[in-house]
Amino acid sequence: MAGVRGRRQIKGSIMSGTGHTGGGTVTITLDGTNKSVKIPLTSGTVGPDVLDIRKLYNELGIFTYDPGYGGTASCDSRITYIDGDEGILLHRGYPIQQLAEQSSFLEVAHLLLNGELPNAAEKKAFEDGVMKHTMLHEQLRRFFDGFRRDAHPMAIMCGVVGALSAFYHDSLDINNAEHRRISAFRLIAKVPTIAAWAYKYSVGQPFMYPRNDLGYAENFLYMMNAVPAEPYHVNPVLARAMDLIFILHADHEQNASTATVRLSGSTGANPFACIAAGIASLWGPAHGGANEAVLKMLAEIGSVENIKPFLEMVKAKDNHARLMGFGHRVYKNFDPRAVIMQATCHAVLKELGIKDDPLLDLAIELEKIALSDPYFIERKLYPNVDFYSGIILKAMGFPTSMFTVLFAVARTTGWISQWKELIEDPSQRIGRPRQVYTGAVARDYVPLAGR
Ligand code: ACO
Repeated sequence: MAGVRGRRQIKGSIMSGTGHTGGGTVTITLDGTNKSVKIPLTSGTVGPDVLDIRKLYNELGIFTYDPGYGGTASCDSRITYIDGDEGILLHRGYPIQQLAEQSSFLEVAHLLLNGELPNAAEKKAFEDGVMKHTMLHEQLRRFFDGFRRDAHPMAIMCGVVGALSAFYHDSLDINNAEHRRISAFRLIAKVPTIAAWAYKYSVGQPFMYPRNDLGYAENFLYMMNAVPAEPYHVNPVLARAMDLIFILHADHEQNASTATVRLSGSTGANPFACIAAGIASLWGPAHGGANEAVLKMLAEIGSVENIKPFLEMVKAKDNHARLMGFGHRVYKNFDPRAVIMQATCHAVLKELGIKDDPLLDLAIELEKIALSDPYFIERKLYPNVDFYSGIILKAMGFPTSMFTVLFAVARTTGWISQWKELIEDPSQRIGRPRQVYTGAVARDYVPLAGR
């Protein structure tokens, strides 16, 4: 590997174009040759400049190498901006704190999808548009019976969301703006129904049909908790907390699952298939599965006196142990969503009359100890949004297996907005990364007898 990468020394120098001016260049010279190329620098409205390396291979015959894409911008986007050093998260320019305090999830969905906050008429039309698509095709009910009772609800989500493309043929033309609009409504509207039914299936209760007279989060809590045998009233404080949790998870720039949706979308795959791919990507414990993993970790730690030995194990990297809910690829300061989530956590516990929650006490102590430990300070590891969301969701009565599902419900809005932006970008091409090949060089086939 080192041989492949270390074969030539590549020297680069910035000739001009500092700041966000764009229009500058960086000259890359291959040492030991007379080859050099001027690479254009390009800028967004805010954020670091980027090198536009599209012509690099043609000019110099080399690729760039960036496993995990930590230093690579894969697209232009106008949806979400993150400044990880400053702990800033903006959706279409609006700070997440303001949206969390003053907006609602469906208003944020309109903002992400269409670029602007809606006026009163647009807001009503959008909300009505989403809410009239909440039901599932009746035949989709039977899909659930195909799963084992103990199936993880994320497995059901991957399967049933992907299957939507088999039912809604009338909105699958990705080049038709009206089809894109209807598909977006269908996805945002139906994903909560699928999520609630995945839960009901696992506990053996009847599926509850959506109620379009309720708000988005309220209807979701209704489908999760109500049973046909008796009336059910959704607690407004919990409905607001659910709505807030959805807002905080609605979009997050080019993370693993969003990049998966865009990569799938770049092939021309239909939006339901692309969102199913995003759900699969979100499932992993390094991404959306982290809040479930936080609760498992807190249960394993058990009590305050076990925190230090646990952190020693994490720092020694025994068995790849990590402090779940800590660290982020982009945030190297605090995660602004975690701050809001922590405050919401206290509000929810208060509403539910939970005065002393041992898990919360443990989480607060763990956070305190980790934040004063040089290992975490040096690596700029701070609590992320998942550190507290698991505790709130548990208090609200969700089983841990549903945590990532709730994330998927919220993130569907971001995924479909990013997918729409991709499809509407005239410069979009199929996503096709390259590689550094480190395998065997060409060799002749050896017949079985000779091996
Ligand atoms: N616990 C302990 N050490 C950590 C942690 C952690 N949670 N996160 C990073 N580190 C360490 C790494 O071991 C590495 O140490 P080293 O320099 O000694 O090798 C250093 O910090 C840098 O870590 P990377 O793996 O390079 O960080 P990366 O950006 O690739 O990973 C990630 C980000 C995946 C989120 C990571 O911090 C992690 O696994 N966190 C725990 C899982 C989690 O909470 N995920 C939720 C993310 S937010 C979301 O999806 C909503």
